[in-house]
Amino acid sequence: MNTADLFSEYVVPTYGRFNLAIARGRGCRVWDEEGREYLDFGAGIAVCSIGHSHPRITEALTRQSQTLVHTSNLYYNRPQGLLAKKLAGYVGHPGKVFFCNSGAEANEALYKLARKFGNETAPPAPRHNVGEWVETDRNRYEIITFDDSFHGRTLAGIAATGQQKVKTGFQPPVQGFLQVPFNDAPAVVAAITPRTAAVLVEPIQGEVGILPCHPHFLRTLRSICDDHGILLLFDEIQCGLGRTGDWCGWKTLTGDDLMPDAISWAKGIAGGFPMGAVWISNRKTALKKGGDSPLADLLGPGSHGTTFGGTPLACAVAGEVLAVIEEENLLANAKELGAHALRELKALGSPLIKEVRGVGLLIGIEFSEGMSLPGAGSRPPALTLTDLLHAAGLLCVPSGARSLRWLPPLNVTRAEIDEALRIFRGVVLAL
Ligand SMILES: Cc1ncc(COP(=O)(O)O)c(C=O)c1O
Repeated sequence: MNTADLFSEYVVPTYGRFNLAIARGRGCRVWDEEGREYLDFGAGIAVCSIGHSHPRITEALTRQSQTLVHTSNLYYNRPQGLLAKKLAGYVGHPGKVFFCNSGAEANEALYKLARKFGNETAPPAPRHNVGEWVETDRNRYEIITFDDSFHGRTLAGIAATGQQKVKTGFQPPVQGFLQVPFNDAPAVVAAITPRTAAVLVEPIQGEVGILPCHPHFLRTLRSICDDHGILLLFDEIQCGLGRTGDWCGWKTLTGDDLMPDAISWAKGIAGGFPMGAVWISNRKTALKKGGDSPLADLLGPGSHGTTFGGTPLACAVAGEVLAVIEEENLLANAKELGAHALRELKALGSPLIKEVRGVGLLIGIEFSEGMSLPGAGSRPPALTLTDLLHAAGLLCVPSGARSLRWLPPLNVTRAEIDEALRIFRGVVLAL
């Protein structure tokens, strides 16, 4: 039985897969089962941040697996503590880290933080008519998110996500999420009610062909949240930890002066070893019962957890991946080569391309509306183009129906970017 047949017989068909079985990878390249080589500008959807089969990952996996793989969170383990310190250092503001296993799970921790905050902290003086609510009992639980956002596939994740296609078939939705237009500060203010606990935003939306927040919008969100006494949460799962050329994706847009109350990470954090994490600020928050607490300590013992969160193995690998990014100066590489790729893609000047947007090595190419591709039928243009690029030896990731993403490893070389540009240009100009 070939690999595709094994899948159709035995694997639940949740994914529409390309007809490609990847057998091995090294650096920015992968090979399929027939031995065909591809330049991998998808990197496992922004996950393989230092490329495939990096010797430092192999070495860290081997060393730590020969020492201690798992102990549970009943005990301390040093790799987890050291990784938390490193991540908190990247944020550059006092705070603490919780570890889990995926992006959706990291966002779940943010939703629970928002509810704990809404339940246990003193609400500010009401700006709205609070109706039958007794002021001191007022619980806040609503989280405002944005149209076209993506926050993961758990039940709360699809309620938070601003795309109908992920919600369909899974009604009723988890309560307490609402979406407003992206980059629209007045819409956020209009959506705030006495029950609002938080605003959750991707500083750079990843699922609609890469759409950054306007820096002014992010700053306005901070002041809206401060004015209304609610949390500002950043989903940096796709844009964080180096992809934009900074550890914190939003800092590439706004500089250092803006600080969220909590951040979620996953994807590139451990170069392909499954891990998610959240950072929560230590800023003091007044409690309903009196006194105050650091925000990070609201998720106290027994309030949240996961068996595999922060194992010594996962943390040792993540620590090594982040050390490679530091030592090999890959933030600067992402900035420089991202700018080069963006410039060259913009210069293509094909009528097929509506717009190219990007920050560092997070690049989106949006195709023109009404574009019809020969032989595509009803298949969305992004998928047809991805097929054609595969045939030419380049892996990219669709992003919605009309956009593609370039998300190469952060240690991609200029020669590899130029090779990808040659392949891309050849496919687009042939159309
Ligand atoms: C911005 C963002 N948030 C959340 C997620 C969900 O992460 P995961 O697939 O690891 O659950 C993703 C995944 O694509 C994402 O891009």
